[in-house]
Amino acid sequence: MLKIIGFCVIFGLSVNLASSQLYFPNEATQVSNYGRCITPNRERALCIHLEDCKYLYGILTTSPLRNEDKLYLSRSQCGYYNRKVLICCPDRYRDSSPVTTARPPVNSTNTNLLPQPGQCGNLLSNRIYGGVKTKIDEYPWMALIEYTKGGGNKGHHCGGSLINNRYVVTASHCVNGKSLPADWRLTGVRLGEWDTTTDPDCETDIRGMKDCAPPHLDVPVERTIPHPSYDPGSKNQINDIALLRLSRQIEYTDFVRPICLPLDTNLRSAAFDGISMDVSGWGKTEELSASNLKLKAAVDGVTLEECQSVYGRQDIFLEDTQMCAGGMEGVDSCRGDSGGPLIGQNTNKVNTYYFLAGVVSFGPTPCGLNGWPGVYSRVGAYVDWIQTSLKP
Ligand code: ARG
Repeated sequence: MLKIIGFCVIFGLSVNLASSQLYFPNEATQVSNYGRCITPNRERALCIHLEDCKYLYGILTTSPLRNEDKLYLSRSQCGYYNRKVLICCPDRYRDSSPVTTARPPVNSTNTNLLPQPGQCGNLLSNRIYGGVKTKIDEYPWMALIEYTKGGGNKGHHCGGSLINNRYVVTASHCVNGKSLPADWRLTGVRLGEWDTTTDPDCETDIRGMKDCAPPHLDVPVERTIPHPSYDPGSKNQINDIALLRLSRQIEYTDFVRPICLPLDTNLRSAAFDGISMDVSGWGKTEELSASNLKLKAAVDGVTLEECQSVYGRQDIFLEDTQMCAGGMEGVDSCRGDSGGPLIGQNTNKVNTYYFLAGVVSFGPTPCGLNGWPGVYSRVGAYVDWIQTSLKP
């Protein structure tokens, strides 16, 4: 990932909105819960209606409200349901009223193998574009793809995105690409990684508080599923997308969580022209052949026509299952970022969430060449294929 000139603001604590399980409210008089969450003070908590959290509701209804309480309450918000505010209520403040965790109805299709907005792609409490490093818990769906080489050595040479507790989306060229050395085997994924040189990873915030993540997870890959129509030798690299099925279900933490897919009808067909998105990974930088830290850069979507006019000079013909982004000097994805996410942001009636808009496919060499956007597989075109390929 090439860096962009920018500023990095380290902000306060984060509120994670969703849980690893699906919880649905029901009509009973019991307290409905909308999943587990972490409070601004990093306590374990449940996301429930504000009125059901007696303690916080009490603070809100005390006037005058102190500024620090206002801040705490706004950072504790974990969504809306039926226009009512949901709040992240610490376990120790909840009274003993029984809490319902009704299961979603079992659906005959496997659509419900995918998390829905609220359970995926959660935002931090604040965020800044133009930074270089990610925060330790930012983009927790990022995966590094592990290869085992001839001599038994392992290395990470592609990126990917966790989409549920069993599957990672990556590029097909990371699975069966024509320039993958014959003696490399894709054997696993690393999740919960931030700085590849330390384990566990820790970040110190502005107040000097050290925040450490649990050790990263190395999970074996049980099956690689390249897109059936991907042609490794093709110039245009259409259908450059693949799924990796993990050998076991993983548990979500603050540092390991899925991104949403562009499930909404309008997101599936959107081209994202002129829309700002983030690309993230541990790929090549101006200085290093691979970055130690998970980086991000903001890139704008470029129309397929404009992109085609550039790549056409190389006899590369793009299709509408592809999309382009970037093309500004020095801001791009790069070697090693392949398979990683181009991240979009969307707001529906209930949530603002991140979704996987694109998968890093190819781009200019050297990276970050002015006028040469990066090419991405447009994930909206593959939502059906992904859904039908997922198994419980
Ligand atoms: N195929 C590359 C990889 O192996 C991705 C390159 C993206 N390049 C670019 N200039 N956007 O990681």
